[in-house]
Amino acid sequence: MEINTILSDFPILRREVNGHRLVYLDNAATSLTPEPVVAAIADAYRNHKSNVHRGIHTLSQETTTLMERSRECVARFIGAASSSSIVFTRGTTEAINLVAATISRNWDADAEVIVTAMEHHSNIVPWQLAGAKLRVIPLMPDGSLDMAAVEGLFSTRTRLMAVAHVSNVLGTVNPVAQLVAIAHRHGVPILVDGAQAVAHMPVDVQAIDCDYYAFSAHKMYGPTGVGVLYGKPEALAQLPPYQGGGEMVDKVTFEHTTFEDAPLRFEAGTPNFVDILAMPAAIGYIEGLGWDTISATEHALLQRAVAGLSAIEGVRLIGTAPGKDAVLSFVVEGGSSYDVGLLLDRLGIAVRTGHHCAQPLMEALGITGTVRASFAPYNTMEDVDAFVAAVSKVVRMLS
Ligand code: ALA
Repeated sequence: MEINTILSDFPILRREVNGHRLVYLDNAATSLTPEPVVAAIADAYRNHKSNVHRGIHTLSQETTTLMERSRECVARFIGAASSSSIVFTRGTTEAINLVAATISRNWDADAEVIVTAMEHHSNIVPWQLAGAKLRVIPLMPDGSLDMAAVEGLFSTRTRLMAVAHVSNVLGTVNPVAQLVAIAHRHGVPILVDGAQAVAHMPVDVQAIDCDYYAFSAHKMYGPTGVGVLYGKPEALAQLPPYQGGGEMVDKVTFEHTTFEDAPLRFEAGTPNFVDILAMPAAIGYIEGLGWDTISATEHALLQRAVAGLSAIEGVRLIGTAPGKDAVLSFVVEGGSSYDVGLLLDRLGIAVRTGHHCAQPLMEALGITGTVRASFAPYNTMEDVDAFVAAVSKVVRMLS
């Protein structure tokens, strides 16, 4: 796809911010939404607003069929063997909370979960709420995992491993298949947080062989309020229900209730079916761009940004692991990330600043926050040049 075609799919990029052309580099927080996805959402509201899995009338049957098609599309997209492995949630956070709240019901008070030092709070706090003690895989100076430390973290108390596929701060791409193999050798199931991966690289959950994989639609050009929990059939079957309500049940009496199988067992209440109906449009958009284009574009942008920032005195890059994804964190001597972010915003550059919901990582790195630029295929070399020039200007202002 030509860059001009891609740009025309994102009218928001024509906006001016503070008198400057918008340079949107906050894609790790949320990606922008292309016209075909907006059209799919509008079409669902216009033509398919009828509750799913409940009605015998034609409209409801039709919408149910479309929702199940979305489930099949998601399953195909991540290489799942069956659509019954796909549970729709509100987002990655809810998907992880679902697993944590249910799998932990039979855990002892001394249960342990192995995580990495780079986890987002959403892959830390749910396990703490579930009563687990966390054992942490430390990092190497470049922001990759210290793989030599992994084996030593297992004990008879280990109940699960939960790791990010890609760090939202460092851009490190973790060797998840290798971690899965290690966890399984210890008889421990593993959950992979794929929030920062699915829009940037092909993901095959069967090749990774993880037990659970979680991600969000809004970071992959899709709608907000839709997440996915993939689970192997046997991994989902062992989870008790999460929330109770309509459609997750088989038979209800005042004395006793029996439940549906996965995925409906975990989808109590009316799902966000309107947005779920737009998932195939988001996946179609990614597939239309193609993984080669996505990867080549994002890595070229990253490379140019790394070269540009490295040449600015007073800027230190955080996270330099080989093969990293297009997420670029940095700190500026003499300026807080908050100040730098505010000044960049005045110049029309949208970045995220602060701890990025990864306070333990900040502590491990000995910093309080970073400025983070994260790239998508609709970004251009002009965006990178504007960003580097703006950082250079801000550094001069702060020195
Ligand atoms: N998890 C998102 C981020 O890293 C919100 O910005």
